[in-house]
Amino acid sequence: MPLPIIPQAKMGVTAVLVLPLLLLGISGLLFIYQEVSRLWSKSAVQNKVVVITDAISGLGKECARVFHTGGARLVLCGKNWERLQTLYDALISVADPSKTFTPKLVLLDLSDISCVQDVAKEVLDCYGCVDILISNASMKVKGPAHKISLELDKKIMDANYFGPITLTKALLPNMISRRTGQIVLVNNIQGRLGIPFRTAYAASKHAALGFFDCLRAEVEEFDVVVSTVSPTFIRSYHVDPGQGNWEASVWKFFFRKLTYGAHPVDVAEEVMRTVRRKKQEVFLANPIPRAAMYVRTFFPEFFFAVVACGVKEKLNVPEEG
Ligand SMILES: NC(=O)c1ccc[n+]([C@@H]2O[C@H](COP(=O)([O-])OP(=O)(O)OC[C@H]3O[C@@H](n4cnc5c(N)ncnc54)[C@H](OP(=O)(O)O)[C@@H]3O)[C@@H](O)[C@H]2O)c1
Repeated sequence: MPLPIIPQAKMGVTAVLVLPLLLLGISGLLFIYQEVSRLWSKSAVQNKVVVITDAISGLGKECARVFHTGGARLVLCGKNWERLQTLYDALISVADPSKTFTPKLVLLDLSDISCVQDVAKEVLDCYGCVDILISNASMKVKGPAHKISLELDKKIMDANYFGPITLTKALLPNMISRRTGQIVLVNNIQGRLGIPFRTAYAASKHAALGFFDCLRAEVEEFDVVVSTVSPTFIRSYHVDPGQGNWEASVWKFFFRKLTYGAHPVDVAEEVMRTVRRKKQEVFLANPIPRAAMYVRTFFPEFFFAVVACGVKEKLNVPEEG
């Protein structure tokens, strides 16, 4: 029997309707997936003892918030007691007593190695174990290498490398004996790419990444997971897109992350996902730094030449301590 011929107008209307419906369906599915994933992430940390170093920085605070609402037993570490207490008050004000635990606050200066060891002992004495360590603290410095003192170089290495590895080494035997645990290093893409005027910072980030990459293989047989999360740039809360012309606004809307960096909330959610999925390595990078990593690997001379060009324009960069 011959098929009925659909009038052209009817086909046109169907085609016009199909695309929006398809997009709507895909968006709906994506939304449901994200919500389920978010709820699942939270349940993955329920009752877990989670230590966050430098819980008072932008990212640290957001990690504290997502892990607290997820029902983790938090140990919030920081150098400043007043800022720790402010964070504590903020978390307690939104606490749900049926799901959340009262966080423990600990003063911790990661560049003071004996303080780091004491803190590890204090936490283990208090909770008996640590399930997840989020090593987030870090110290920054910017300036030409010859103008930065060796003393400051060492301080950076203490805060960004020796401090985190001391804490890790102090907590590892407990994780190994329990055959469970996760260590998350919040690093920086500068742990893979050397950028001018960041010698000490980039060196400390390379060192930390090297340590945790080696450790990952060592502890796998004990079911201890090592994850590294490396963002390119985390934007400050106060940095918001300014007013501009129409084209600039569109650019900023679509390329917000490229222009202003990832929001601390997004990075904290990524840390949570990393924990739940036990991911080993995460790069939160836009296409340009991502491409730069490949160029650095496969065409090093080209990469060095491009970077050196940028330096010529910035030779008088001000120092930051
Ligand atoms: N910001 C970015 O664009 C960016 C990009 C990629 C990766 N990251 C990484 O993300 C993590 C968090 O960065 P952030 O931007 O949220 O923090 P941040 O604004 O860089 O602040 C650093 C924090 O670390 C603390 N700190 C410095 N030395 C310390 C020490 N010895 N012991 C304990 N705490 C110490 C500082 O405390 P004080 O203020 O009291 O000194 C400050 O709260 C870091 O590991 C960083 O490397 C950041």
